[in-house]
Amino acid sequence: MPERNRRLILAERPTGKVEDSTLRLEQHDVPEPGPGQALVRNRYVSIDPTIRTWMDDVHGYLPPIGIGEVIRAGGIGEVERSNCERYKEGDLVFGLTGWQDYVLADEGAAVMRALPPGVDPTAALSVFGLTGMTAYFGLIDVGEVREGDAVVVSGAAGATGSVAGQIARIKGASRVVGIAGSPEKCAWLVDELGFDAAINYKTDDVAARLRDACPDGVDLYYDNVGGELLDIALAQLALRGRVVLCGAISSYNSREQIVGPKNYRNLIPRRGRMQGFIILDYAERYPEAQAQLAQWVGEGKLKFKTHIVEGLENAPDALNMLFSGGNTGKVIVQVD
Ligand SMILES: NC(=O)c1ccc[n+]([C@@H]2O[C@H](COP(=O)([O-])OP(=O)(O)OC[C@H]3O[C@@H](n4cnc5c(N)ncnc54)[C@H](OP(=O)(O)O)[C@@H]3O)[C@@H](O)[C@H]2O)c1
Repeated sequence: MPERNRRLILAERPTGKVEDSTLRLEQHDVPEPGPGQALVRNRYVSIDPTIRTWMDDVHGYLPPIGIGEVIRAGGIGEVERSNCERYKEGDLVFGLTGWQDYVLADEGAAVMRALPPGVDPTAALSVFGLTGMTAYFGLIDVGEVREGDAVVVSGAAGATGSVAGQIARIKGASRVVGIAGSPEKCAWLVDELGFDAAINYKTDDVAARLRDACPDGVDLYYDNVGGELLDIALAQLALRGRVVLCGAISSYNSREQIVGPKNYRNLIPRRGRMQGFIILDYAERYPEAQAQLAQWVGEGKLKFKTHIVEGLENAPDALNMLFSGGNTGKVIVQVD
């Protein structure tokens, strides 16, 4: 059990990937829970591309992380001591635990939720966590996936993309095509997850392979990447095609001016639509998605993979890994 509270603090704003100088490791006393508070020992933190966007001085859907503040991140911790009714010692709780060993949960703020007994914390941070929710609502609500659709997913071997592609299959898509960055990832998508085709964007002619895989055009493009891949998909949109803007990871590490997609005009003759979303807006409906995803996992229709990195001190490298593509499935840091 850690005797000090290690905290990873934002020291300066990165201009590209996270460097040694971006963060500072501080050691503090373990905080004392006051009345109505519980002391939570952080066990697992979710590593998400959006953490990198929070390090920029840009007000997005949440304010930026301030210089001198602990890195914001979702996580699961164990209640070690409690002075309140809401949290019991030994409970596993989910919330914004941050990149630190300990956090105080405040009964009044009610931002930490107890995990149902028996739930595997790594599954709770992946397929039943925000990336699973994002795949589910992004594909079904925003993308309005339909039977017979030709569905293309970028970032397909990642946490969100791998689940989104499988949901498309379950929902009766005629073609499910993944775009990913290595032959191993492409093989996993086709051989293990049942995608019809996978395109390696680093080595293949993506436009040509996409035309072969979806000869009648792309009905639904689930985009995790943005940039050039978005442009290629826009050019091949089918009539009434939909583009779900889930993420744009190709630009998060860049300070350069982002150039918009050249092929957006194709939305006009195709009567297409392109829509972004933020998963936090669906919070009230998470239980519905979790129940459905649990059923599919139980029936063997939906598979998920986690990539566990050990040690809080390795959280910065784990974040950078999302950008170099070193992960397959959901990246989680096991704190100690
Ligand atoms: N809208 C929302 O509410 C919401 C919620 C959660 C996540 N998201 C977004 O969903 C996307 C996926 O997030 P995740 O947590 O599931 O991460 P992830 O997909 O598990 O990991 C990111 C993956 O992106 C790929 N990638 C990185 N840079 C790339 C580039 N320049 N071009 C093409 N692919 C690249 C890498 O795989 P390769 O080896 O294939 O390159 C990497 O494995 C992100 O854009 C994220 O911001 C959105």
